[in-house]
Amino acid sequence: MSSSRACLAALVAPLVVLLAALALLSDDIDLSPADWLADTADSALAAAERLGIAKPRSPLDRALRLLDRHPLADGHNDIADKITGLADGAIAHLDLTRLPPPYHTDITRLRQGRVGIQAWSAYIPCPSNFTQNAHAIRLTLDRIDLLKRIAAAYPDDFELVGSAAAARRAARAGKIASLIGIEGGHQIAESLTALRMYYDLGVRYMTLTHTCHTSWADSCAPPPLHHGLTPFGADIVREMNRIGMLVDISHVSHETMRDVVNVTRAPLFVSHSSAYGLCANPRNVPDDVLLAMKKHDGIIMINFWPELISCGPTATIAQVADHIEYISKLVGPKHVGFGADFDGLTELTTGLEDVSTYPKLVAELLRRGFSDADVVAITSGNFLRVLEKTEIVARKMAKRGAKPNETNTPPRDAC
Ligand SMILES: *[C@@H]1O[C@H](CO)[C@@H](O)[C@H](O)[C@H]1NC(C)=O
Ligand SMILES: *[C@@H]1O[C@H](CO)[C@@H](O)[C@H](O)[C@H]1NC(C)=O
Ligand SMILES: *[C@@H]1O[C@H](CO)[C@@H](O)[C@H](O)[C@H]1NC(C)=O
Repeated sequence: MSSSRACLAALVAPLVVLLAALALLSDDIDLSPADWLADTADSALAAAERLGIAKPRSPLDRALRLLDRHPLADGHNDIADKITGLADGAIAHLDLTRLPPPYHTDITRLRQGRVGIQAWSAYIPCPSNFTQNAHAIRLTLDRIDLLKRIAAAYPDDFELVGSAAAARRAARAGKIASLIGIEGGHQIAESLTALRMYYDLGVRYMTLTHTCHTSWADSCAPPPLHHGLTPFGADIVREMNRIGMLVDISHVSHETMRDVVNVTRAPLFVSHSSAYGLCANPRNVPDDVLLAMKKHDGIIMINFWPELISCGPTATIAQVADHIEYISKLVGPKHVGFGADFDGLTELTTGLEDVSTYPKLVAELLRRGFSDADVVAITSGNFLRVLEKTEIVARKMAKRGAKPNETNTPPRDAC
């Protein structure tokens, strides 16, 4: 190396390090001083690599080091549904530290994947008829109960949390901070009281529909029924804002997404969908909604299902990274994350076959030039910010005197 280049490096490197460290600090899960120093040293090393004065580490190595200090968040995992299907929801005879195929998730692989925050889906299938309403609440309770039994059975590994602050604390303590989401408005059986009680049980997001319309919102399944949200649907969204539950627009129609943009006061949230601009599947989110997401400071957590990545039966890690890059270019890296949908996927992306594989995707992002700070935002910071802002909206509404919506209609299948 020439002496002038070394001199330039000596001048520039400290500045790069300082900026990188500040960027990381601004959006993170409460770093300890030791981790902050490690981040700073890592950033210095990365700067030195870029300047050609240090031997480059492999992107996977960098990804693992970064994720060791900034555990990853994922927006959607369906293991509760798989355990329900394969073991009737009983875990006494299952060893969750090592589950055989077809499970994509177990504790060992979550640890290998550096997962520190997971939203678990309390999914139940779509009803064939609205008359199954009250039944939907029973089935939803079964799923929530299962997720609580799992957390209680493995207290060293899981901690159920109900806020961004608690998620940060649990992840920092080495637990997998666990949140619950319900995956379809059919699960509240047209009942605002059920919605509020789910919140009390720990549910922190509701996907407005699964792939079936409700009486108050259209899903992405054709043909449209209401062309978006009905007035009651809009009131449900307002009630979710009031109690601080994330309004998830995965699975809904594009018309419903646009109506939610108009109604919600909280950041837009997509737990497990990908970019319609790269794969025109109606489950994916179109550019105008992504732009609204930026305006609302929201997040789309990318689904790894090949059908939503390549619009075909197979996909690659590079194609998943393409979606993240596409959204980052359109609205910035502050509005994207991972919502892999493991244990809900029928086909898998090659290389992303289970929860141990996230670091490979992170390595691909680093290889493409995403900065450490952007990667930390994508892998956890963005989700935590959206959760926190949703909590703040609820607190502000309470301050302004917002009251529960007391409208209550009897269940459709009541005697
Ligand atoms: C659904 O329920 C309605 C009554 O609410 C009934 O008229 C209709 O036949 C049912 N449809 C199916 C497919 O079961
Ligand atoms: C509650 O929701 C109902 C049904 O959509 C609506 O008619 C009513 O205006 C809402 N009440 C409040 C206080 O928002
Ligand atoms: C959203 O609100 C704006 C302004 O009130 C209105 O012009 C527009 O039609 C609304 N869009 C939808 C999809 O409701």
